[in-house]
Amino acid sequence: MKTLKVDLAGAPYPIHVGPALTTRADLLLPHLAIPQVAVVTNSTVAPLYLDALRDCLGQAGVNVLSIVLPDGEAYKTQDSWYHILDEMLAYRCERKTSLIALGGGVIGDLTGFAAATFLRGVPLIQVPTTLLAQVDSSVGGKTGINHPMGKNLIGAFHQPRLVLADTLVLNTLPAREYRAGVAEIIKYGLIRDLPFLDWLEAHLDALMERDSHTLTQAILESCRNKAEVVALDEFETSGVRALLNLGHTFGHAIEAGAGYGVWLHGEAVATGMLMAADLSERMGWISEHDLLRVESLIKRAGLPLQAPDLGADRYLQLMASDKKVEAGNLRLVLFKALGRAILTQEADPACLKSVLTAGKGRYLGRQNEVPQ
Ligand code: NAD
Ligand code: GLY
Repeated sequence: MKTLKVDLAGAPYPIHVGPALTTRADLLLPHLAIPQVAVVTNSTVAPLYLDALRDCLGQAGVNVLSIVLPDGEAYKTQDSWYHILDEMLAYRCERKTSLIALGGGVIGDLTGFAAATFLRGVPLIQVPTTLLAQVDSSVGGKTGINHPMGKNLIGAFHQPRLVLADTLVLNTLPAREYRAGVAEIIKYGLIRDLPFLDWLEAHLDALMERDSHTLTQAILESCRNKAEVVALDEFETSGVRALLNLGHTFGHAIEAGAGYGVWLHGEAVATGMLMAADLSERMGWISEHDLLRVESLIKRAGLPLQAPDLGADRYLQLMASDKKVEAGNLRLVLFKALGRAILTQEADPACLKSVLTAGKGRYLGRQNEVPQ
C-alpha cells in the first residue's frame, strides 16, 4: 500500500492506494469519531463489495447502516440525496456518524453532498470503486447532484477524512468504464506533468491490460497531481483548479448534445481534450506534432476520436452554460504547450468555429458519434 496526503490547511487527509483495502478496518477505524457509519452504495456495487466492508467493520465493533441506491447517473438526484437523509434520520444517525461512499463518482458525489448537508455536515470517507473515481472524483471535496437544467448544478465543497483506493476492485469494472477512467489519467499529464505524459506513452499498453504495478503507479501519480492542485486552489477561485476541467467544456456539450447517458463522462472528456488541442494548434500555441501525440494516446486508450456533429451554433449554445463562464464570457482550458494548460478567454472565435464545424474540425464527424 502507498499513501499520499492532500495537504489542506487545517484538514489534511490521506489517500491510500493498494490492493484489498476495502476490508482493512484498521485503516478506517482511526478516522471514525464514533463506531457508527452509514455506507451508501448502489445495486451493482453492493453484491460485489458491500458485505466485505460491512463484515470487516462489524467485526471491529462498528454499527453499520447500509443504503443501497439504484445504479446510474439518472439517480444522482434530489430524491436519492433526500432518501439518504431520510434513512439516516430514521436510524438516528448523529453529527459524529461517518458516511462512507462505496462506489463510482455518482455514489461519491451524492454521498458527499449528503455528508455536507446532514445535520449541517458529518464526516465523509470515500471508498471509490471505479478508476475515474479513484483518480479524480473521490479526491478534492467536490460533491453534488444533478438538476433537470444540467449536471452537478447543486452541490457543496466537503472534503473527505480519508480516501481508500482499492486497486483489486477494478478487476470487475467493465472495459468501457475503465477506458473512461484512463481519459482522466491522461488529462493530468496533458495539463501539468510532462514527465507523467512521457511515462504514460511508454506504459499505456500495460495500463490498458490493467497490469497491477502500472495501474497503481498511474493512480498514485494522478492522485498526486490532483492533490497538489486542490491544495493550491481548494475552492476553485484562483483558476488553478479550473485547469482540471481540460476538455470538459467541449465534453459537457457532447454529453448534453448527444443526450445524457449516451456518452460516458470520461469519453466526452477525451474527445473534448482533442478538440482543445485542435483549437490550440490552430491558434499556433502547440505544434501539429503535439496534437498528434494527444490523438495517439486517446486512440491507444480506445477512447472516441470523433465528437457528434451538432452544428457549431448548437455547440456554442451548450458551451455557454459552462460553469466557467464569467460575466457572459466563455473561458476555455487550452494548451500553451503540452504539460502546460491555461484557463483563457483568448480563444480565437474563427478557430473555435472551425473546430466545431463539420468538414473543418479534425475531431468532428458522423463517424463514431456513439462510443462502443
Ligand atoms: P459511475 O459512478 O456511474 O460508475 C460507473 C459504473 O460502474 C456504474 O454502473 C457503477 O455501478 C459501476 N461500478 C462501480 N464500481 C464498480 C466495480 N468495481 N465493478 C463493477 N462495476 C462497478 O461513474 P463514474 O465514471 O465513476 O463517475 C461519474 C460521475 O462522477 C459523474 O456523475 C461525474 O459528474 C462525477 N465526477 C465528479 C468529480 C468530482 O470532482 N466530484 C470529478 C469527475 C466526475
Ligand atoms: N474534477 C474537477 C475538480 O475536482 O475540480
